[in-house]
Amino acid sequence: MAKFLPQIIIFSILSFAAINLVSAESDGYARTLDRKLFGLKKKEKLTHFQLYWHDIYSGTHPTAVAVVSPPSNSSGTLFGAISMIDDPLTEGPELSSKLIGKAQGFYGSAAQEKAGLLMVMNFVFMEGKYNGSTITILGRNKVFSDIREMPVIGGSGLFRFSRGYVQARTHKFDTKTGDATIQYNVYVLHY
Ligand SMILES: *[C@@H]1O[C@H](CO)[C@@H](O)[C@H](O)[C@H]1NC(C)=O
Ligand SMILES: *[C@@H]1O[C@H](CO)[C@@H](O)[C@H](O)[C@H]1NC(C)=O
Repeated sequence: MAKFLPQIIIFSILSFAAINLVSAESDGYARTLDRKLFGLKKKEKLTHFQLYWHDIYSGTHPTAVAVVSPPSNSSGTLFGAISMIDDPLTEGPELSSKLIGKAQGFYGSAAQEKAGLLMVMNFVFMEGKYNGSTITILGRNKVFSDIREMPVIGGSGLFRFSRGYVQARTHKFDTKTGDATIQYNVYVLHY
């Protein structure tokens, strides 16, 4: 037994060190992890995507549906209206151009004086190396401004720990149907 003692001591020290690498601090259910193990010591990348977002109310396959009607339009901004969306995101402005992903979520009129939407949506990528990864956009959309900026508040897959912003510009809007094509420029920091 005694002759194994040094090995036991060395093993204990090593395993203690290994545990220490993972959990510098532990509090039962919570522990501090080594950032390196999550790739967080790498330099963050800044990626730009230019996509077109198609909100389609017309026809037999709408991608946007009004799920809540406002009790009245006395505000003039349809305050309280909510639409659920599963909007195609394409490479070019034409709906027939390459499908890159979907914008899934909802938006609602959150302003009573000047038109302003609360946008809550995930851009779900379906193409190339980003396939399956998502980014989450949550922000205020002043629809009648030329450029609307909204924050990217996080993501999944290749966009874990991401942050950034988007700029939206109206490319086409049909006042009769409500159909819209919006250009989205996405700037996202991720590892
Ligand atoms: C709501 O009111 C505004 C301002 O009066 C008007 O421009 C808009 O067309 C109305 N919307 C609906 C759906 O009635
Ligand atoms: C994206 O991933 C899904 C699920 O893994 C797969 O079915 C699909 O073929 C992929 N699409 C592309 C364009 O790679």
